Amino acid sequence: MITNRTFTMIKPDAVEKGHTGAILDKITASGFRIVAMKLTQMTLADAKTFYAIHKERPFFGELVEYMTRGPIVAAILEKDNAVEDFRTLIGATNPAEAAEGTIRRLYAESIGENAVHGSDSDENAAIEGAFHFAGREMF
Ligand code: RTP
Ligand code: MG
Repeated sequence: MITNRTFTMIKPDAVEKGHTGAILDKITASGFRIVAMKLTQMTLADAKTFYAIHKERPFFGELVEYMTRGPIVAAILEKDNAVEDFRTLIGATNPAEAAEGTIRRLYAESIGENAVHGSDSDENAAIEGAFHFAGREMF
């Protein structure tokens, strides 16, 4: 398994507000190389599959509605220690608890609408990257 890669989505709220460029700039300035990237919109079925781990949680309905309401930017990123370093760069799930200077602190609204996704393990990074990209789209 490739262990220096992570998967991210710039979520619909951040794309809607025009934060895509600023967020990508912060990601590349932090030393991540873009391996794959596209603007796309998840179907309801996509979002239910992607977030299946949360299907019993009370916020699941809101989560899939939010994640499908508009386009997202999906990307695979490469850096040493990618998964952990990217989670540090985005900050806590709740932007009110996210550290100063993190992407969620800068661009997220609430715990539900929190601007970006970051994989939580090398295994999930590989699964999530393969969910969105074919091998020929990865560089
Ligand atoms: P993500 O998977 O999107 O990177 O976020 P995360 O690991 O920081 O948080 P996770 O626990 O995996 O939750 C996934 C997404 O569900 C929404 N959420 N809403 N209303 C709520 O209490 C609540 N809690 C989580 C957020 O969009 C969160 O990123
Ligand atoms: Mg998560």
